[in-house]
Parts: sequence; C-alpha cells; structure tokens
Amino acid sequence: MTSILVHAVLCICVTLASFCWTAHASDPDILFDYIIPQNTSISTFNGSFFTFTGMRGIFDSPTPPNVKGTQASMVEFPALNGQSVSMAVLQFGPGGINAPHTRPHATGLLFVVEGSLEVGFIDTTNKLYTQTLQAGDMFIFPKRLIHYQYNANTSKTAMAIAAFGSANGGSVSIPATLFEDDIDDNILAKALKTDVATIKQIKAGLTPKA
Ligand SMILES: *[C@@H]1O[C@H](CO)[C@@H](O)[C@H](O)[C@H]1NC(C)=O
Ligand SMILES: *[C@@H]1O[C@H](CO)[C@@H](O)[C@H](O)[C@H]1NC(C)=O
Ligand SMILES: *[C@@H]1O[C@H](CO)[C@@H](O)[C@H](O)[C@H]1NC(C)=O
Repeated sequence: MTSILVHAVLCICVTLASFCWTAHASDPDILFDYIIPQNTSISTFNGSFFTFTGMRGIFDSPTPPNVKGTQASMVEFPALNGQSVSMAVLQFGPGGINAPHTRPHATGLLFVVEGSLEVGFIDTTNKLYTQTLQAGDMFIFPKRLIHYQYNANTSKTAMAIAAFGSANGGSVSIPATLFEDDIDDNILAKALKTDVATIKQIKAGLTPKA
C-alpha cells in the first residue's frame, strides 16, 4: 500500500517536473487557435489582425550609422501572442555592431540578406563560436547565450533578418545592463578588477547610447 502511494507521489512529481520543464523550454502552448485581444469587436475582426505592416518601407530608409533593429514581437504585432514566433530586421551601418546581448526567451536564427557579418556566441563552458557570414548564410544563436553581430566592413552596409522561437524573445544588452543601470561604481570596479575612474570612463562612453 505504502509503496503504491510512494509510486503515485513519484509519478506526480515527475509529471509536474516535466510539465514545468516543457513550459520553460518554449512559449506556453495555447488552448485556442489564436488569442484575440480583449475589447476586440468580433464584427470587425478580420485578416488585418493577422497582418503586420509596421515594416513597410524599411528597406528604403537610410541605413543608420551603427545598427538599427526593428522588431515585430507580440508587443508590436499582437497576433503573435501564443504563436511562439517573432522577427526582427537588423540594419548595420559600415562598422556597425550589435553589442553582446542575450535573448532570455528565444533561440535566434539569423539570415544575412546583404553584406557580411562577423557573428559569435559563448556557451556555458565559456567557449566562443564565431563565423563570418555572407549574404544567403544563416547562423543560429542558442537560447539565452550571449552573442553579437558585427559588420567589419567599414565601407559597406549589411542587413539581416532574425527569426525568434518566441513571441517575445526579450533582449538583455551586456554593456547597457552593466553600465547604464545604477550599479555602484565601486562594485563594478571590484567586480571587473579595475578602478572607479575606468568605470566612469566606460559609462561616459556609453552615454548617449550607441
Ligand atoms: C475594455 O473596455 C472597457 C469599457 O470600455 C474598459 O473599462 C476596459 O478597461 C477595457 N479593457 C482593456 C483591456 O482595454
Ligand atoms: C478589417 O478590420 C479593420 C480593423 O481591424 C478595418 O479597418 C478594415 O476595414 C476591415 N476590413 C474589412 C474588409 O472589413
Ligand atoms: C567591403 O565591401 C566592399 C564592397 O562589397 C568590398 O569591395 C570590400 O572588399 C569589402 N571590404 C572588406 C574589408 O571586406
């Protein structure tokens, strides 16, 4: 009797654990075909809801000096809510860099459509994987790992489309997180084994944001 009980409890624990693990491995699955925002009038609900036109003209706009990312996540495109996908267009000026960052909720699949990009990510064993990508190449950034893209060509622009395995991949910039928030200069200096003057110099260089 006791062993049956223990077995049952174990089964429940394992089921719960695997359920939690699944929930963390990707966006939660939804029980509807799609999620209609509250206060949507059903009489006017149509294909427009599933359409995002916010990037029209993006390929005609002048390329920024450094890098410009234009997102279509569930924030900009509510129909993505519950569908576990989103996209961004990354436009790099000559020498432009998308500084090291992580996307806590999404794997990233980068497709270079113009120019060339130096890319890399660091895994949890601290191993760095890098590649030089040409137009037509794809590169995958595993979920949560710190990564970057850099247009090393100082005379040519570059552009890439990023697809994410989440409706809201999130983004945590390493330089901004460390130096543009209010972590005390003394703490940063200690953590980075340097002095407060160097920390202040780095902070000054990051303002205004690159
Ligand atoms: C929906 O509409 C009602 C009445 O106009 C309003 O009180 C409510 O805040 C709205 N809810 C959302 C989520 O917009
Ligand atoms: C579809 O809905 C949008 C508003 O969400 C409205 O502006 C548009 O006119 C509708 N289209 C048709 C064909 O009903
Ligand atoms: C930069 O791009 C131009 C134009 O495609 C090319 O001619 C040049 O070789 C590139 N420079 C480097 C350093 O790759």
